Order: sequence, then C-alpha cells, then structure tokens
Amino acid sequence: MMRLEGKTAIVTGGGQGIGAAIAERFAVEGASVVIAELNQDVGAHTAAEIASKTGADVAFIETDVASQESIAAMHIEAKKLFGTVDVLVNNAGIAVFHEPLESTMAHWHRCMSVDLEGVWHCCRQVLPDMLAQNDGAIINIVSNHAFSIIKSTFPYPVAKHGLLGLTRALALEYADRGVAINAISPGYTDTPIVANHFAKEADPAAARAAVEAKQPVGRLCRPSEIAAVAALLASSEARFIIGENIVVDGGVSIRMYE
Ligand SMILES: NC(=O)c1ccc[n+]([C@@H]2O[C@H](COP(=O)([O-])OP(=O)(O)OC[C@H]3O[C@@H](n4cnc5c(N)ncnc54)[C@H](O)[C@@H]3O)[C@@H](O)[C@H]2O)c1
Repeated sequence: MMRLEGKTAIVTGGGQGIGAAIAERFAVEGASVVIAELNQDVGAHTAAEIASKTGADVAFIETDVASQESIAAMHIEAKKLFGTVDVLVNNAGIAVFHEPLESTMAHWHRCMSVDLEGVWHCCRQVLPDMLAQNDGAIINIVSNHAFSIIKSTFPYPVAKHGLLGLTRALALEYADRGVAINAISPGYTDTPIVANHFAKEADPAAARAAVEAKQPVGRLCRPSEIAAVAALLASSEARFIIGENIVVDGGVSIRMYE
C-alpha cells in the first residue's frame, strides 16, 4: 500500500533540490502535493513534471514563506484545491554565509525571516486545523549546521539551531493532540544551491571532488535520500517519533578528527 494515500502535503520551497525530491516521493506515495514556492518558473515546471511522471495531483502555489500574508493565502488556496492539509514540510531555506562581524543586520533579518520565522509562520498557519482534526505531521528540514559550526557561515547556523529548538518546543506541546513534529538534518546534499556554490569556484570539478573526499561515504547526499526519510516521518506509521532530529549527513557530524 502507498504510505500517503489520501493525504495532502504542502512542501515549501518544493520547486527544486531537496523540496522537489520530497514532493516527488510524496506523490509516488499517493499524496496530493502543494509546491509552495517563491520562484514561479521552477515551481510551475516541477509541479507539472511530477504530476505527469506520477499521475498524482500536484499544484504549484506561488508563496513567500517570509510573508505571513503569502502563507495564509497559500493555505486557503491549498484547502480549496485538496480539502484538509495533513502534512507540512518546511523545506524552504536560504544559505546566508558571512564572517560574523562582516555581516549586516540586513543579512541577519533575511536569514531569520526565511529559515526560522518562515517555518514558525507556516506552522502557525496549519496547526489549528491539524489539532482540530487530531492528525498531522510537520517535518522541518534543518541542517547539521544546527549542532555543528563551520566558520564564516554566520548567521545560518544561528537560524538552524533556533529551528531545532522550534521543532522540539512545538513537538512536545502538541504530542498528545495527534500531530507529530520532527526535523531532518541533511549534510552536504547535491542540489542546485550546492551546484551554484561549486560553479563560482575557479575549478568547479576540483571543488566538488575536494568536498566529496571529506565525506565519510565519499559522495554527497542525494535529495532522494532525504525524501525517503521525509516519507517515513509523514506517514501514520511514524506517529510515535516526536521532536526527533534525524541526521542524514553520511557520518560527517560523528567524526572528530581524521
Ligand atoms: N543542500 C544542502 O547541502 C543542504 C544541507 C543542509 C540543509 N539544507 C536545507 O535544505 C533545504 C533545501 O535546500 P536545497 O539545497 O534544496 O536548496 P535550493 O536553494 O536548491 O532550493 C530551495 C528552494 O526554496 C525556494 N525558496 C527560497 N526562499 C523561499 C521563500 N522565501 N519562500 C518560498 N520558497 C523559497 C527556492 O526558490 C528554491 O526553489 C533548506 O532549508 C536548506 O537550508 C540543505
């Protein structure tokens, strides 16, 4: 049986990368999927592609998770299309990386507004209905930056540490009301944001090879490997997993020194 048959899922930032892989996996598992995405081109393209590949109902709704109004409008539209919302994946995120004292308050606010406040606003939006139906799952895509630090990636890890705190605070609050809230922390994952980062280096292939060589598994994570864990957490089989942070980083964060 398909794990998510009859369920409706919202995936923020589902137009590309990890979010697109989650949207596709959910569609394969029988869910109707809303891709709540800022970028119109990738959002519409990915929704159409997943729908034609899987036969599932997949809708793109233009959304900016940094705006409460935009989130509220997306939620109304999602319910109009598919009825109830059973699963929310807070995946939309941006990497804002600076040396701390060289960063500005504009960097800080941009990062927090998407990576932390955006998640809280999406949770606030869907939680009342999930609590009323006594059923739901929320999955926050965090990062191994939520518990380990790489120098000069400020303030991204501050937002991701906060996001882990948000996940746990909400998870415990609503554990006895049918809603399971958890986090997944990917390591270095092969997505467009990462490809763009390599592309800026003098020798992109060498830059990629250097990162791969540092991974205990010898390669980057595939977006589908995050999606597989998200499918488990979204399913009714996983309702006793509460406030967990499932680290999918190929062992990077358990290593001390080479
Ligand atoms: N790729 C990695 O190595 C990695 C590692 C750890 C954690 N993560 C986290 O995983 C998530 C997805 O990362 P990715 O690598 O797939 O990123 P990506 O940049 O490839 O894709 C992110 C998507 O989110 C969308 N988005 C950005 N801002 C938005 C907003 N305000 N509202 C709605 N949509 C918005 C983008 O348009 C894009 O389609 C992020 O939260 C990121 O922090 C990624």
